[in-house]
Amino acid sequence: MKKITIAIDGHSSTGKSTMAKQLAKALGYIYVDTGAMYRAITLYAIQKGYIGQDIDKLDLLISDLPSIHLEFRYNTSLGYSEIYLNEVNVENKIRTLQVSSFVSQVSVIKEVRHKLVKLQKEMGAKKGLVMDGRDIGTVVFPDAQLKIFMTASMEIRATRRYKELLDRGADISYEEVLENVQQRDYLDSNREVSPLKKADDAVVLDNSYLSPEEQFQKALSLAQDRINTP
Ligand code: DC
Repeated sequence: MKKITIAIDGHSSTGKSTMAKQLAKALGYIYVDTGAMYRAITLYAIQKGYIGQDIDKLDLLISDLPSIHLEFRYNTSLGYSEIYLNEVNVENKIRTLQVSSFVSQVSVIKEVRHKLVKLQKEMGAKKGLVMDGRDIGTVVFPDAQLKIFMTASMEIRATRRYKELLDRGADISYEEVLENVQQRDYLDSNREVSPLKKADDAVVLDNSYLSPEEQFQKALSLAQDRINTP
């Protein structure tokens, strides 16, 4: 059967990764979470003391880039891949509000984007993959056979992210999460390098009032349609 490339972009906390994972599983494709890659580089910068409250030593991060090793390893019991930063599994450590608060500052750095986009293109060379992020349909795979742009109202997204963080035991308020979602929307959409924007040929999926199952069925039928198109 023909293999295609599926690019999923959209605002933060729209459930891109949940849907991308489901889609990859149903099609037997590889799933790549590019947000995890930007988060892992941010975690590295925090751990090294290159970024923090009133700290900005991002020039040191840029010098370290060639020696930072990122890799996804498939976890058979979970059924998806987890990210490793210099051989250490950081899948959980990258999901904190601290990493979320600094990740926009790291993802505007053009040297960071250059390194990660190159890695992402290599991962997709054989097609048969679902990749989610902000610039997948516009920069990483402008020729992807299926591009989906996901969105939902800001309050609904903040509520979803808040519940997710509470489930992980975080001690935060809804207002803090809402502010972070607003801030990231602004920074993601207004940065100079690869800003978040819908590709002209992307299908918009607003899931404010869709159940995860409804949205998955829509995406799956779009994918099957493209796979069956000669
Ligand atoms: O999808 P996420 O929320 O885990 O992504 C974390 C951050 O990384 C997000 O605020 C923007 C950035 N990002 C990016 O700039 N480009 C991508 N392809 C993916 C994520």
